[in-house]
Amino acid sequence: MVELKTEENIAEIRRAGRVLAKVFIKIQKKIAPGISTQEIDNWIKSSVEEYGGSCAFFGYRNYPANSCISVNEEVVHGVPSLNKVLKEGDIVSVDIGVKLGRYCVDAAVTYPVGNIDRERKKLIDATRKALELGIREAYPGNFLSNISCRIQRYVESCGFSVVRDLAGHGIGQNIHEDPEIPNYGRPDCGIKLKKGMVLAIEPMVNVGNWEVEVLSDGWTVVTKDRSPSAHFEHTIAILDNGPEILTRL
Ligand code: MF3
Ligand code: CO
Repeated sequence: MVELKTEENIAEIRRAGRVLAKVFIKIQKKIAPGISTQEIDNWIKSSVEEYGGSCAFFGYRNYPANSCISVNEEVVHGVPSLNKVLKEGDIVSVDIGVKLGRYCVDAAVTYPVGNIDRERKKLIDATRKALELGIREAYPGNFLSNISCRIQRYVESCGFSVVRDLAGHGIGQNIHEDPEIPNYGRPDCGIKLKKGMVLAIEPMVNVGNWEVEVLSDGWTVVTKDRSPSAHFEHTIAILDNGPEILTRL
């Protein structure tokens, strides 16, 4: 069942979104060759807590860290580690959930580490743009599948592929709520969007084919062909006039 949020609920979620946006703005300066993903994760925890929030992923289904940090062929759910040190030319996806008061928000950004090759740059730009185009479809009365379809069409027009095994989701007092929001599919089918829905839209895009697998740590999702992957995510609310991006940077 898709829970509709009231204006008051959305005002509360908006506050959580501002906290997460501020954390993301500051992270950018931390991303550089030589930093470990564990150090980034530690910084995220203290930054989120400074603003009065908590990291929503910690302990979720026994997840062992504050954030998910995924490098190169890692798609999502990379577990931060002292042994994973960023180097020039990498791309790194940082995914954070913040809980503030009763509500959660969820967002992700893929950053370049120093200078990256043209293909990785194109991958990051395509994924960011796919999210933006998907969000534009999020208005009352439109089909949810039109978000999915728009993302897939754009990504494939760039020569990349969208991950199919993972999806965006509704969000609220829980990090994952209904509905599920795949990043591919046919237009004009399934449920229609309504005012008051709060959604986390999150395209995951691979340079190679769409297939992924989970590493033996039980968390890290990687591309099967080990090609690089990017991930952008925003939490949005559907209002009368269209989408409001609650985690806008
Ligand atoms: N942002 C992730 C998602 O929506 C949530 C990660 S849950 C965790 O898929 F357990 F991996 F932290
Ligand atoms: Co999410």
